[in-house]
Amino acid sequence: MGTPSGCVKNFRRILARHKRWKYAMSEWIEVGSIEDIPRQGARIVATAFGDIALFRTVDDRLFALRDRCPHRGGPLSQGIVHGARVTCPLHGWVIELASGAAVAPDLGQTACFPVRVEGGRVWLGWNRPGLET
Ligand code: FES
Repeated sequence: MGTPSGCVKNFRRILARHKRWKYAMSEWIEVGSIEDIPRQGARIVATAFGDIALFRTVDDRLFALRDRCPHRGGPLSQGIVHGARVTCPLHGWVIELASGAAVAPDLGQTACFPVRVEGGRVWLGWNRPGLET
């Protein structure tokens, strides 16, 4: 996690191109290959409105969350992925990858986005308002 690689550059280049777009309320954007995201790891999609973290579980499920912990904004992409959850690297809150919700007793939620894989390519359901909340 956190180690630069070709896929990170590729993801960022794709979104750099998208920065010039006028975003619709929701649209699907191809952001790279599933093989670029390590199992039990994450990759960042940089957008003009903040980073989105794409997480891959050990059984190849993908999730996309705003890369800001609901506690104090820690980078969830640098956390530890376990099951369908990630532990924030700053203070250890555990976040559900499917919903962005903090696991009790903590309270809070970060935005989550739809993601799907087709032919090994990852598609992110872009939702600009999700980053503005
Ligand atoms: S910022 Fe994530 S647990 Fe504090």
